[in-house]
Amino acid sequence: MAARLNVNIDHVATIREARKTIEPSIITAAVICEQAGANGITVHLRQDRRHIQDRDIELLRDVVTTYLNVEMAATDEMVSIALRTKPDAVSLVPESPNEITTEGGLDVIANFEMVKKAVESLRAQEIFVSIFIDPDLEQISAAQGVGAQQVELCTAEYAELTLSSRAAHGEGAQKAAAEVSRIAAAAAHARSLGMLVAAGHGLTYRNVGALAAIPEIEEFNIGHNIISRSVFVGLDQAVREMIEAIAT
Ligand code: PXP
Repeated sequence: MAARLNVNIDHVATIREARKTIEPSIITAAVICEQAGANGITVHLRQDRRHIQDRDIELLRDVVTTYLNVEMAATDEMVSIALRTKPDAVSLVPESPNEITTEGGLDVIANFEMVKKAVESLRAQEIFVSIFIDPDLEQISAAQGVGAQQVELCTAEYAELTLSSRAAHGEGAQKAAAEVSRIAAAAAHARSLGMLVAAGHGLTYRNVGALAAIPEIEEFNIGHNIISRSVFVGLDQAVREMIEAIAT
């Protein structure tokens, strides 16, 4: 069975916040994604509120009928918002104020107690917990140690390697293939520890196929590429094309 697709709609809110106005509506975006066949909606409530706002989470919780996954830092403030709004899943991510986007996986080993506390609070309220993590075996074992039910493998490095045309042949292709193998080994390790496996960051219509072939990866979280394409072909079609890219 093909992996599930959660569409990350943060950048619909990025456009809205560029003018601090009411459009485009992320509620409309979520409904269109669901109607196009997405399995879930993902949003990242950042501490600086640069795109998604607290009110968006409340509204999405009422509207999303598939699966609402909220990415957040493992802070007390964020955890209390999750406990109040009860998304289906929380994905714990690292955050630094000046980053353009999430820069890599959460260092669970270095932040073990803080992350464990967040996971315990969320799971006590039956919120499914995923941790965004580099494809590193020790970090994955630590994610199991803090009680996460899923790891989302960070595909940023793979995405970077596949961006240029050099990735199509020679050394570039070898590096990309080696990174796919690293992700596959990480996915197998997470499954062997009893966790579910997701993947995301920087994935596109062109590069998702190699990862969709890894059987342990059951879920993708993809945003920027889908929202970018939707500018030209519409959101419904952009989502359908990504579902097709994952399935083939
Ligand atoms: N997964 C996580 C944990 C992320 O932080 C992001 C970016 O917000 C994504 C997936 C989606 O990445 P992209 O927008 O590059 O598809």
